[in-house]
Amino acid sequence: MEVIIKPDYDQVCAESADIIREAWIRKNDLVLGLATGKTPLGLYERLIGFYKKGGMDFSSVVAFNLDEYLGLGETHPQSFAYYMDRNFFRQVNIRKENAHHLEGRPADIEEHCRAYENKIKGVGGIDVQVLGIGKNGHIAFNEPGSALSSRTRLKILTRETVEASRPLFKDERDVPRFCLTMGIGTILEAKMIILLASGKDKAEIVARAIEGPVTASVPASVLQFHPRTKLVIDEAAASELTNRSYYRWAYENKDQVIQRPKK
Ligand code: PGA
Repeated sequence: MEVIIKPDYDQVCAESADIIREAWIRKNDLVLGLATGKTPLGLYERLIGFYKKGGMDFSSVVAFNLDEYLGLGETHPQSFAYYMDRNFFRQVNIRKENAHHLEGRPADIEEHCRAYENKIKGVGGIDVQVLGIGKNGHIAFNEPGSALSSRTRLKILTRETVEASRPLFKDERDVPRFCLTMGIGTILEAKMIILLASGKDKAEIVARAIEGPVTASVPASVLQFHPRTKLVIDEAAASELTNRSYYRWAYENKDQVIQRPKK
Protein backbone atom coordinates (compact mmCIF):
# COMPACT_ATOMS: atom_id res chain seq x y z
CA MET A 1 0.00 0.00 0.00
CA GLU A 2 1.14 3.48 -0.76
CA VAL A 3 -0.22 6.09 1.63
CA ILE A 4 -0.15 9.56 0.07
CA ILE A 5 -0.93 12.36 2.52
CA LYS A 6 -1.97 15.68 1.01
CA PRO A 7 -2.66 18.94 2.86
CA ASP A 8 -6.34 19.17 1.96
CA TYR A 9 -9.27 17.74 0.02
CA ASP A 10 -8.52 19.73 -3.11
CA GLN A 11 -5.05 18.24 -3.34
CA VAL A 12 -6.38 14.73 -2.68
CA CYS A 13 -8.54 15.18 -5.78
CA ALA A 14 -5.70 16.70 -7.81
CA GLU A 15 -3.33 13.83 -6.97
CA SER A 16 -5.96 11.17 -7.72
CA ALA A 17 -6.85 12.81 -11.03
CA ASP A 18 -3.16 12.90 -12.01
CA ILE A 19 -2.80 9.19 -11.21
CA ILE A 20 -5.79 8.38 -13.43
CA ARG A 21 -4.56 10.62 -16.24
CA GLU A 22 -1.14 8.95 -16.15
CA ALA A 23 -2.82 5.54 -16.34
CA TRP A 24 -4.89 6.79 -19.31
CA ILE A 25 -1.74 8.03 -21.08
CA ARG A 26 -0.34 4.50 -20.82
CA LYS A 27 -3.63 2.89 -21.90
CA ASN A 28 -6.21 5.02 -23.71
CA ASP A 29 -8.87 2.32 -23.42
CA LEU A 30 -8.59 2.47 -19.65
CA VAL A 31 -11.19 0.53 -17.67
CA LEU A 32 -12.26 2.52 -14.62
CA GLY A 33 -14.27 1.37 -11.62
CA LEU A 34 -16.05 4.35 -10.11
CA ALA A 35 -17.39 5.25 -6.68
CA THR A 36 -20.16 7.61 -5.65
CA GLY A 37 -20.51 9.62 -2.42
CA LYS A 38 -19.23 13.08 -1.58
CA THR A 39 -15.53 12.30 -1.63
CA PRO A 40 -14.89 11.57 -5.33
CA LEU A 41 -16.83 14.61 -6.60
CA GLY A 42 -13.71 16.79 -6.72
CA LEU A 43 -11.85 14.04 -8.58
CA TYR A 44 -14.56 13.90 -11.26
CA GLU A 45 -14.44 17.71 -11.57
CA ARG A 46 -10.70 17.50 -12.20
CA LEU A 47 -11.11 14.77 -14.83
CA ILE A 48 -13.80 16.87 -16.54
CA GLY A 49 -11.33 19.78 -16.43
CA PHE A 50 -8.67 17.66 -18.19
CA TYR A 51 -11.21 16.71 -20.85
CA LYS A 52 -12.32 20.31 -21.44
CA LYS A 53 -8.73 21.48 -21.84
CA GLY A 54 -7.93 18.65 -24.27
CA GLY A 55 -5.72 16.80 -21.80
CA MET A 56 -7.85 13.68 -21.69
CA ASP A 57 -10.16 11.93 -24.14
CA PHE A 58 -12.72 9.45 -22.84
CA SER A 59 -13.86 8.07 -26.19
CA SER A 60 -12.17 4.70 -25.56
CA VAL A 61 -12.55 4.68 -21.77
CA VAL A 62 -14.83 2.09 -20.21
CA ALA A 63 -16.40 2.61 -16.77
CA PHE A 64 -18.18 0.44 -14.23
CA ASN A 65 -20.08 1.90 -11.29
CA LEU A 66 -19.43 0.11 -8.02
CA ASP A 67 -22.93 -0.16 -6.64
CA GLU A 68 -26.60 0.82 -6.80
CA TYR A 69 -29.57 1.11 -4.48
CA LEU A 70 -32.06 -1.66 -5.06
CA GLY A 71 -35.43 -0.34 -6.17
CA LEU A 72 -34.30 2.93 -7.76
CA GLY A 73 -34.53 3.38 -11.51
CA GLU A 74 -31.64 5.06 -13.32
CA THR A 75 -33.53 8.36 -13.62
CA HIS A 76 -34.17 8.59 -9.86
CA PRO A 77 -32.11 11.57 -8.66
CA GLN A 78 -30.63 9.54 -5.78
CA SER A 79 -29.67 6.55 -7.91
CA PHE A 80 -25.97 6.07 -8.43
CA ALA A 81 -26.53 5.70 -12.17
CA TYR A 82 -27.97 9.22 -12.15
CA TYR A 83 -25.20 10.55 -9.86
CA MET A 84 -22.49 9.29 -12.17
CA ASP A 85 -24.21 10.53 -15.28
CA ARG A 86 -24.81 14.02 -13.84
CA ASN A 87 -21.47 14.45 -12.08
CA PHE A 88 -19.20 12.89 -14.66
CA PHE A 89 -20.33 10.98 -17.73
CA ARG A 90 -22.48 13.63 -19.41
CA GLN A 91 -19.65 16.15 -19.06
CA VAL A 92 -17.04 14.08 -20.91
CA ASN A 93 -17.08 12.15 -24.17
CA ILE A 94 -17.42 8.65 -22.75
CA ARG A 95 -19.63 6.49 -24.99
CA LYS A 96 -22.95 5.60 -23.44
CA GLU A 97 -22.39 1.92 -24.22
CA ASN A 98 -19.07 2.05 -22.34
CA ALA A 99 -20.53 3.53 -19.15
CA HIS A 100 -21.84 0.55 -17.22
CA HIS A 101 -23.91 0.54 -14.07
CA LEU A 102 -25.72 -1.97 -11.92
CA GLU A 103 -29.47 -1.70 -12.37
CA GLY A 104 -31.63 -0.86 -9.37
CA ARG A 105 -34.53 -2.88 -10.73
CA PRO A 106 -33.15 -5.94 -12.49
CA ALA A 107 -35.59 -8.66 -13.53
CA ASP A 108 -33.31 -11.34 -12.08
CA ILE A 109 -30.86 -10.10 -9.45
CA GLU A 110 -28.46 -13.05 -9.47
CA GLU A 111 -28.33 -13.16 -13.24
CA HIS A 112 -27.77 -9.39 -13.43
CA CYS A 113 -24.88 -9.57 -10.94
CA ARG A 114 -23.32 -12.47 -12.83
CA ALA A 115 -23.66 -10.62 -16.13
CA TYR A 116 -22.01 -7.52 -14.59
CA GLU A 117 -19.02 -9.57 -13.50
CA ASN A 118 -18.82 -11.09 -16.98
CA LYS A 119 -18.88 -7.65 -18.58
CA ILE A 120 -15.92 -6.63 -16.40
CA LYS A 121 -14.04 -9.79 -17.38
CA GLY A 122 -15.01 -9.25 -21.03
CA VAL A 123 -13.06 -5.99 -21.20
CA GLY A 124 -10.02 -7.49 -19.47
CA GLY A 125 -10.80 -6.38 -15.91
CA ILE A 126 -10.68 -3.03 -14.16
CA ASP A 127 -7.45 -1.09 -14.56
CA VAL A 128 -8.07 1.57 -11.93
CA GLN A 129 -10.70 1.22 -9.22
CA VAL A 130 -11.68 4.41 -7.37
CA LEU A 131 -12.98 3.89 -3.83
CA GLY A 132 -14.24 5.96 -0.94
CA ILE A 133 -14.49 4.61 2.59
CA GLY A 134 -17.55 4.66 4.82
CA LYS A 135 -17.23 5.61 8.48
CA ASN A 136 -17.93 1.95 9.26
CA GLY A 137 -15.11 0.83 6.95
CA HIS A 138 -17.25 -0.23 4.03
CA ILE A 139 -15.90 -0.11 0.49
CA ALA A 140 -18.63 0.15 -2.12
CA PHE A 141 -21.59 -1.26 -0.16
CA ASN A 142 -19.60 -4.12 1.33
CA GLU A 143 -20.74 -3.48 4.86
CA PRO A 144 -18.86 -4.86 7.90
CA GLY A 145 -19.12 -8.64 7.93
CA SER A 146 -18.96 -8.95 4.14
CA ALA A 147 -17.01 -11.98 2.98
CA LEU A 148 -13.56 -10.87 1.90
CA SER A 149 -13.90 -12.93 -1.28
CA SER A 150 -17.45 -11.77 -2.10
CA ARG A 151 -18.58 -11.10 -5.66
CA THR A 152 -21.21 -8.71 -7.04
CA ARG A 153 -24.42 -9.39 -5.16
CA LEU A 154 -27.36 -8.09 -3.18
CA LYS A 155 -26.45 -6.65 0.22
CA ILE A 156 -28.57 -5.47 3.14
CA LEU A 157 -27.48 -1.98 4.18
CA THR A 158 -26.53 -1.34 7.79
CA ARG A 159 -28.81 0.87 9.84
CA GLU A 160 -26.18 3.64 9.82
CA THR A 161 -25.87 3.56 6.03
CA VAL A 162 -29.67 3.75 5.75
CA GLU A 163 -29.71 6.70 8.18
CA ALA A 164 -26.93 8.46 6.27
CA SER A 165 -28.95 8.32 3.05
CA ARG A 166 -32.36 9.16 4.60
CA PRO A 167 -32.05 12.99 4.37
CA LEU A 168 -31.54 12.69 0.60
CA PHE A 169 -34.95 11.12 0.06
CA LYS A 170 -38.11 13.20 0.02
CA ASP A 171 -40.34 10.16 0.25
CA GLU A 172 -39.69 7.84 3.22
CA ARG A 173 -40.89 4.89 1.10
CA ASP A 174 -37.97 5.45 -1.28
CA VAL A 175 -35.24 5.19 1.42
CA PRO A 176 -33.26 2.13 0.29
CA ARG A 177 -32.52 -0.78 2.59
CA PHE A 178 -30.88 -3.02 0.00
CA CYS A 179 -28.34 -2.55 -2.70
CA LEU A 180 -26.37 -4.32 -5.37
CA THR A 181 -22.64 -3.97 -4.97
CA MET A 182 -19.45 -5.25 -6.50
CA GLY A 183 -17.94 -7.67 -4.02
CA ILE A 184 -14.68 -7.35 -2.15
CA GLY A 185 -13.26 -10.16 -4.30
CA THR A 186 -14.34 -8.25 -7.41
CA ILE A 187 -12.67 -5.06 -6.17
CA LEU A 188 -9.44 -6.86 -5.29
CA GLU A 189 -9.08 -8.00 -8.90
CA ALA A 190 -8.60 -4.40 -10.08
CA LYS A 191 -5.05 -3.84 -11.29
CA MET A 192 -4.75 -0.63 -9.31
CA ILE A 193 -6.92 0.77 -6.52
CA ILE A 194 -7.10 4.39 -5.40
CA LEU A 195 -8.94 5.02 -2.15
CA LEU A 196 -9.72 8.66 -1.35
CA ALA A 197 -10.53 9.90 2.13
CA SER A 198 -10.90 13.36 3.55
CA GLY A 199 -11.77 14.90 6.90
CA LYS A 200 -11.38 14.22 10.59
CA ASP A 201 -14.49 12.05 10.72
CA LYS A 202 -12.69 9.47 8.58
CA ALA A 203 -9.45 9.48 10.62
CA GLU A 204 -10.29 6.62 12.96
CA ILE A 205 -11.53 4.23 10.29
CA VAL A 206 -8.64 5.13 7.95
CA ALA A 207 -6.20 4.18 10.71
CA ARG A 208 -8.02 0.91 11.37
CA ALA A 209 -8.09 0.08 7.66
CA ILE A 210 -4.41 0.83 7.02
CA GLU A 211 -2.76 -0.12 10.29
CA GLY A 212 -5.22 -2.43 12.00
CA PRO A 213 -5.73 -6.14 11.47
CA VAL A 214 -7.32 -7.38 8.26
CA THR A 215 -10.87 -8.20 9.22
CA ALA A 216 -14.29 -8.47 7.63
CA SER A 217 -15.40 -6.07 10.38
CA VAL A 218 -13.44 -3.34 8.55
CA PRO A 219 -13.87 -4.28 4.89
CA ALA A 220 -11.37 -1.62 3.70
CA SER A 221 -8.62 -3.38 5.69
CA VAL A 222 -8.58 -6.05 2.98
CA LEU A 223 -6.75 -3.55 0.77
CA GLN A 224 -3.66 -4.56 2.76
CA PHE A 225 -3.67 -7.65 0.52
CA HIS A 226 -3.72 -5.67 -2.71
CA PRO A 227 -0.29 -5.08 -4.25
CA ARG A 228 -1.10 -1.78 -6.01
CA THR A 229 -3.30 0.27 -3.72
CA LYS A 230 -2.79 3.98 -3.26
CA LEU A 231 -4.57 5.63 -0.35
CA VAL A 232 -4.79 9.31 -1.13
CA ILE A 233 -5.90 11.09 2.02
CA ASP A 234 -5.75 14.55 3.52
CA GLU A 235 -4.01 15.56 6.75
CA ALA A 236 -7.24 15.40 8.72
CA ALA A 237 -8.04 11.86 7.56
CA ALA A 238 -4.41 10.84 8.23
CA SER A 239 -4.34 12.32 11.74
CA GLU A 240 -4.72 9.00 13.60
CA LEU A 241 -2.13 7.04 11.61
CA THR A 242 0.82 5.91 13.71
CA ASN A 243 3.29 5.74 10.82
CA ARG A 244 2.45 9.10 9.20
CA SER A 245 6.03 10.32 9.07
CA TYR A 246 7.21 7.15 7.32
CA TYR A 247 4.46 7.41 4.66
CA ARG A 248 5.43 11.04 4.02
CA TRP A 249 9.11 10.21 3.81
CA ALA A 250 8.49 7.29 1.44
CA TYR A 251 6.28 9.41 -0.84
CA GLU A 252 8.68 12.35 -0.92
CA ASN A 253 11.70 10.16 -1.65
CA LYS A 254 10.26 7.48 -3.88
CA ASP A 255 11.61 8.97 -7.11
CA GLN A 256 15.20 8.85 -5.86
CA VAL A 257 14.83 5.44 -4.27
CA ILE A 258 13.28 3.89 -7.35
CA GLN A 259 15.99 5.20 -9.74
CA ARG A 260 17.69 2.25 -11.38
CA PRO A 261 21.44 1.93 -11.00
CA LYS A 262 23.34 3.07 -14.12
CA LYS A 263 25.06 0.30 -16.04
P1 PGA B 1 -18.56 9.71 1.31
O1 PGA B 1 -18.99 8.18 1.27
O2 PGA B 1 -17.56 9.88 0.21
O3 PGA B 1 -19.85 10.46 1.02
O4 PGA B 1 -17.99 9.98 2.66
C1 PGA B 1 -18.04 7.19 1.32
C2 PGA B 1 -18.71 5.84 1.45
O5 PGA B 1 -19.67 5.71 2.21
O6 PGA B 1 -18.23 4.89 0.79
